[in-house]
Amino acid sequence: MANVAVIGAQWGDEGKGKVVDWLASRADIVVRFQGGHNAGHTLVVGNQTYKLSLLPSGVVRGKLGIIGNGVVLDPQALLDEIARLGAQGVAVTPRNLRIAENVPLILPLHPALDRAREAARGAAKIGTTGRGIGPAYEDKVARRAIRLCDLAEPETLSAKLDELLRHHNTLLQGLGAEPFSKETLLAELLDLAPRLLAYAEPVWQRLDRARREGARILFEGAQAVMLDIDHGTYPFVTSSSTVAGNAAAGSGIAPSAIGRVLGIAKAYTTRVGAGPFPTELHDETGRLIGERGREFGTVTGRPRRCGWFDAALVRQAVKVGGIEALVLTKLDVLDGLPELKIGVGYEIAGRRFDHLPAAPGAQAAAQPIYETIEGWQGSTRGARSWADLPAAAIKYIRRIEELVEAPVMVLSTSPERDDTIVMRDPFAD
Ligand code: IMP
Repeated sequence: MANVAVIGAQWGDEGKGKVVDWLASRADIVVRFQGGHNAGHTLVVGNQTYKLSLLPSGVVRGKLGIIGNGVVLDPQALLDEIARLGAQGVAVTPRNLRIAENVPLILPLHPALDRAREAARGAAKIGTTGRGIGPAYEDKVARRAIRLCDLAEPETLSAKLDELLRHHNTLLQGLGAEPFSKETLLAELLDLAPRLLAYAEPVWQRLDRARREGARILFEGAQAVMLDIDHGTYPFVTSSSTVAGNAAAGSGIAPSAIGRVLGIAKAYTTRVGAGPFPTELHDETGRLIGERGREFGTVTGRPRRCGWFDAALVRQAVKVGGIEALVLTKLDVLDGLPELKIGVGYEIAGRRFDHLPAAPGAQAAAQPIYETIEGWQGSTRGARSWADLPAAAIKYIRRIEELVEAPVMVLSTSPERDDTIVMRDPFAD
């Protein structure tokens, strides 16, 4: 039985929550391998809506959730999310959540630095979620991060905080922000330590055992390929590797164990935060899509920018992200539009490109080359079989498959879990 990894194929918010929830119900273990509480997944189960940021979606379904070493973990955000879920009747305990002992922590100084830097950038800001994700990953790579395991060694923690604060307080003060006190941080961390350490373990061992026992493992990506630190629209990206290859390094498992890689894509495109977006619509159609698709950020509540489906962009995500098949979501948002456009490439300074080049100037100048395709009149919302779809909607999907060079394996037709058309079981070998 194959394992499955799910990643976003655009700029995030593709509807991963529902898809991951649907897949999680058939998995034994759900693993987060990158990102942090900058992610936002909305799960609708019956009449309950769960909003998850850091916890693997499977915990709502009673599955074992694992937070891998590739994540950056904000201890307070984790405990708050556990408390919120508890209030909704979902108990999260060390029985159903395990956290890599070597996961780096987000401390209060990280969001402070994130926000101070964004303020200093002014008009050139990235539009981060302000959660300290970038600064926390910087500390990891600079080898000065506080990791979960350090909470068990107060002396190590104390020495590491000295080093960390030497760096951060200098930066914060340079940006006109308040410095942090070591004593306060140390006391706060030691206070949280017993609650957090209860979840800590070498998760790679558990994953290795699970794999040998034939358990089904689902790797749940956050953000998306176009926000990847290497392959995305740099510098307007997040600070982690969002491609499927990182599921192995970010959890401590063999690359061969990742299994099938699914990319989630909306039937159109959205983006939150700043950065290039060639097929963005600034007109009434863009506004309509945003309104119908309820395109507001789960984490920040910011309205999302909306535009046509960009097949050149998704094809690029398919190639660099290792995506084998797509899950297409929110097709119903396009119901009733007389005609649709699909981006098939770009024109940049008089030259045609079949991909988005890496240089920022070229990305900003990229003009989409469109193909126009007929819309459909009927409703696709809630469709549960191919036969329920209007012929023009099927044509739209088939054209997307051709252009992105990947099949659509699953079609999601509403936020409800059962409103899903499955062309092929993703867990099947
Ligand atoms: P950061 O991850 O907070 O550093 O933000 C960097 C960029 O990634 C910004 O454009 C954010 O809006 C974007 N971003 C981060 N997380 C998500 C997400 O879960 N969905 C969509 N965009 C995201």
